[in-house]
Amino acid sequence: MSDKPWGGRFDAPTNAFVEAFNASTHVDARMYAEDIAGSRAHASMLTAQGILSEADLKLILDGLDQVMQEIESGTFEFTIALEDVHMNIEKRLTDIIGDAGKRLHTARSRNDQVGTDTRLYLRKRTDDLMKRIKHLQVVLVKLAEEHADTVMPGFTHLQTAQPVTFGHHLLAYVEMFGRDLARFADAKARMNQCPLGSAALAGTTFPINREMTAELLGFDAPCANSLDAVSDRDFIMELLSSASICSIHLSRFSEELILWMSAQFGFIDLPDAFCTGSSIMPQKKNPDMPELVRGKAGRIVGALMSILMTMKSLPLAYNKDMQEDKEAIFDAYDNLEGCLRVFGDMLPGLKANKEAMHQAAGSGFSTATDLADALVRAGVPFRDAHEIVGKSVAYCIQKGIDLMQMPAEACMGIDARLTLEMVQSLSVEACVAARNHTGGTAPEQVRLQCKRWASLWVD
Ligand code: ARG
Repeated sequence: MSDKPWGGRFDAPTNAFVEAFNASTHVDARMYAEDIAGSRAHASMLTAQGILSEADLKLILDGLDQVMQEIESGTFEFTIALEDVHMNIEKRLTDIIGDAGKRLHTARSRNDQVGTDTRLYLRKRTDDLMKRIKHLQVVLVKLAEEHADTVMPGFTHLQTAQPVTFGHHLLAYVEMFGRDLARFADAKARMNQCPLGSAALAGTTFPINREMTAELLGFDAPCANSLDAVSDRDFIMELLSSASICSIHLSRFSEELILWMSAQFGFIDLPDAFCTGSSIMPQKKNPDMPELVRGKAGRIVGALMSILMTMKSLPLAYNKDMQEDKEAIFDAYDNLEGCLRVFGDMLPGLKANKEAMHQAAGSGFSTATDLADALVRAGVPFRDAHEIVGKSVAYCIQKGIDLMQMPAEACMGIDARLTLEMVQSLSVEACVAARNHTGGTAPEQVRLQCKRWASLWVD
């Protein structure tokens, strides 16, 4: 007879390599607190329903307390011979309290158990991630307020387009992270249903009360279909989609920080504590943190691909393939949390080189659109204005001057409607200040948006 909890129908022991290959303890042991919480709720419900005795319940609850304490103090030994966190804990409980421990698995299967544990664990980890995202938003809004007036070039196609405020640029990321938060909250709400009581796949013959276990564990309701409950991993796909999109946002932000910190841009400096040097080039200060965060997006999106491919074509209900679900999302969550932590800690130390930003903002004829707008305000049709400014830019390129420096004769020569006053009023400050409408780049709008975010956060 085998020493496995399922050993009854087996004659031969498990192949030694298979035992290790099959085990998931190295991954799922971290769900021990959720496994114990699930067992407490299950045992309490069985007792309330008259399926377990009060005496057994007391033994189980006290025994689970001891197991918890052993795990947290580091004396508990997880063994691969017991496959996973569920059987390791159940076996130890039985060693401590005897027969009552063997009764705990009545009306339960590891299939509903693992689904419950994973949802509970990810619910908590998602809350932690959301706190980190929110913190990053707070940091960014503060930085945006400081730089509401700082002018920098805005780019399209990575070519100078129009001046923008640095605060406005930072607030774009606050919006993205706001959508990330909404996606996580949405996925979390859909996930918050309890599989417990679905047992292996069809439910159980015992008179259980699934509403009670769901409530005890803080779920909104029991899952409505037992087959779905034990085969559903949509929540992992959804959470990993949300994590992937968030990591993509971080990768875009990283890329900009890396560009801005290069000598060619010279817009920002990141704190020494978040950069490293080169072992050969003494002058180097490398933006390793944004680079690494940019790289992490690859593995986080990889985790999403992994669960999608694992679930593809799987028949109902539980299949062992699904044991692969946890490693990917745990790794993705650990890494995303690390990225958010690094950004939240690093960005308050970002130094903006306002002069370099200002100078770059004014170069590359970034004010050309505003000159065209000035002509339109003087009654010139937009297409004509576009043409006039195009000619002006060509003239300035040839002379090596900026639009603001065009002499009166040159303006006249290009078109009588182009005035000296128009070209001379083309400061980058005027450009950003003029875009003073909801969502525009004007300093006034940046301050308004910062206030809007702050007001959303007062509870
Ligand atoms: N370790 C398993 C997993 O993570 C638990 C569920 C196993 N169920 C089973 N019938 N073998 O998926």
